[in-house]
Amino acid sequence: MTIVITGATGFLGLQLLPHLVGGGRRIVALTRRGRPPVEERLTRCLRAQGVPEHAVRAVADRVHGVPVDLNRADLGLAPWQFSQLAAEADEFWHLAGHVGLNAPAAAVTRTNVAGTAHLLNLAAAAGPGARVHHVSTAFVAGGRGSGTVHETQLNGDHGFENAYERSKFEAEQHIRRWAAERRAKVVVFRPSILVSDRPSAVGTPSNPLAELARAFGLLTALLPGMPPGMPPGTPPGASVDPSGRRTGDPTGGPSAATPLVRIDGREGAHLNLLPVDAAARLMHELAGRLDPVPGTPSTCHITHYQETSVQTVFEAVGALHGLRIRLTPGPITDATDLERFAARATRAFAPYANHRRTYLRTTLREHRLDGDGIASIDRAYLVRGMQRIPADLGADFGLAAAATTRSSAGSASPTGTFVAPASRLSLALARPGA
Ligand SMILES: NC(=O)c1ccc[n+]([C@@H]2O[C@H](COP(=O)([O-])OP(=O)(O)OC[C@H]3O[C@@H](n4cnc5c(N)ncnc54)[C@H](OP(=O)(O)O)[C@@H]3O)[C@@H](O)[C@H]2O)c1
Repeated sequence: MTIVITGATGFLGLQLLPHLVGGGRRIVALTRRGRPPVEERLTRCLRAQGVPEHAVRAVADRVHGVPVDLNRADLGLAPWQFSQLAAEADEFWHLAGHVGLNAPAAAVTRTNVAGTAHLLNLAAAAGPGARVHHVSTAFVAGGRGSGTVHETQLNGDHGFENAYERSKFEAEQHIRRWAAERRAKVVVFRPSILVSDRPSAVGTPSNPLAELARAFGLLTALLPGMPPGMPPGTPPGASVDPSGRRTGDPTGGPSAATPLVRIDGREGAHLNLLPVDAAARLMHELAGRLDPVPGTPSTCHITHYQETSVQTVFEAVGALHGLRIRLTPGPITDATDLERFAARATRAFAPYANHRRTYLRTTLREHRLDGDGIASIDRAYLVRGMQRIPADLGADFGLAAAATTRSSAGSASPTGTFVAPASRLSLALARPGA
């Protein structure tokens, strides 16, 4: 029997695969066409994440890649391939998704809603006992800023902060209808924001913490008098290590000289952040224990038992980049240039600086999985997870090449920290989708 998985090469998929291969079954990873072979990508990413070699080999040996086109109802497979795959599959894990918070609605809807419907076509062709595990998000709760979200709830009453949230909501609606029509066995997992305290390596899936920190990394380039490689506000005794990371006191408190950046946000705002390795473990564990009623998906919040304050997240960013970032109830009418840039650079994140909702962890509680073994997320954890390989800083903004040489348009430290003039930074931040 075979497990069919989408999104195996992603941030979450890479953590889930080692659990799935442990079951000894064949695993077919449906991947995007035109990418390098999945076995090669998985091996490279797992090694970069420090996964032990024997576990890397176990994944590479057991996982068989099949290129597909999620935009097509038949997944772009030949009819015989489609039927053969459906016939051998007894379990589906659908993780593939477009997770861009700034991305155009058409793109996220195509992948997250139509892509889910097309994957379900394959599941429908499988035997009646085949199980579907669908990875949704806790953010199907949309624009609801406070209160407690139940696992049974799925309504769009509060609107959505972005097209990504709406698309995941619509995908869940679709899967509920589909399960009811076919009396299919479905488990829907709703993870919160997945994070890691491993620094992101180039060429591996992105950690959302690193994305947020990178936006602020570009901002520090705006500040005058910044010695190369040493952001302003660097605590006494700190230094930059050979890989470009500030050491000495990476989580130290800000000094009075540290530049202040106010971010529009609600006092007491908090978010649910969950280590990605815990999310994968909990989902795999629950999948083995749950027996969903045919036609009615079991829906589970995969969330941390503790909320993380948004101010703590910004303190971690500030500690990393030598800034004092303070959540301030808006509107901020006297914003400095730096604050205006900060607001633009982080606009995808902005709505979440007002959130104070919590999620009921009913299923995790029922299965006594609601606490143990989950790392607590403090400022030190966040700082570790926000670090990136310096050469990657600004890569998506087309600044990576410039960061290797000194030029009149900007300067780069030997450690790779890029110092750009304001005009260059404005261009970078003005790029569509930035
Ligand atoms: N990250 C979070 O904080 C978070 C939180 C809650 C829920 N989730 C959900 O968890 C799932 C996995 O997220 P992630 O963080 O692992 O995302 P990710 O790192 O961006 O990975 C996305 C995965 O989906 C695949 N994919 C995207 N578009 C595809 C397409 N058109 N055809 C085939 N494959 C496609 C990617 O393949 P390539 O490698 O080829 O790009 C990759 O394997 C998503 O459904 C997301 O909505 C994520």
